[in-house]
Amino acid sequence: MMRLDKYLTLCGFGTRAQARALLRAGRVRIGGEPARNPAQAVDEQTVCAWVDGERAQYRRALHVMLYKPAGILTAARDARRRTVADLLPPAYVARGCMPVGRLDMDTEGLLLLTTDGQLAHRLLAPRRHVEKVYFAQLDGPVDEADCAAFAAGLALGDFTALPARLEPLPGQCAARVAVCEGKFHQVKRMFQARGRQVLYLKRLSFGGLALDERLAPGAWRDLTDEEAAALYAAAEGKQNGGALLQPKPDVRA
Ligand code: URA
Repeated sequence: MMRLDKYLTLCGFGTRAQARALLRAGRVRIGGEPARNPAQAVDEQTVCAWVDGERAQYRRALHVMLYKPAGILTAARDARRRTVADLLPPAYVARGCMPVGRLDMDTEGLLLLTTDGQLAHRLLAPRRHVEKVYFAQLDGPVDEADCAAFAAGLALGDFTALPARLEPLPGQCAARVAVCEGKFHQVKRMFQARGRQVLYLKRLSFGGLALDERLAPGAWRDLTDEEAAALYAAAEGKQNGGALLQPKPDVRA
């Protein structure tokens, strides 16, 4: 079950606001009668709604994997700057495909976008322990003491980070780190708390789903049904741990 305005949006009849305007104008009919209440609960599997005489066709949720490049804002829209929504087809944006969390302007890598707001919410809830794995290029090496500090939960002033897994990359001033929450500048602040500066940050995976290596920066693709199913399982806390080493080491050109 879902609200009628959301249903119309998922059927491709524009944004929520546009769907509500259609309802207000009496252009939507259910069972031969005009439907005007955007909050009306409908069963998306069985409802038979018509808009201007066109049968509304419910489409399954969209889930997208985007290789977010640096210099692009993670937002649905912005008056001045290019956003990740500008990299998607307009039809996806109209259907409400929204970023799952944020990456900083200068961070690149895996960004998920979905029309399923509940899935997004669950993937981001820290208590569900969905891991996001990052590659970080640093201004110096990290060591076992840093790993222990990350694992203990770093105090960052206004909050204490949940335990995170840090894996120094041998012979490099770089590391992989897995976190289960996504506060503003979280990874950068965690390294800062250990006296290190992040020079470059790339998200490698989210909920066990790795960035497709065939995607160029700025490119996207739909998730496969298997990937989407794995993501739903991860959102339910069914992700199997130990994922830190699975993403291949980042190789910068
Ligand atoms: N942590 C950060 O500091 N920045 C990001 O973009 C993502 C995680």
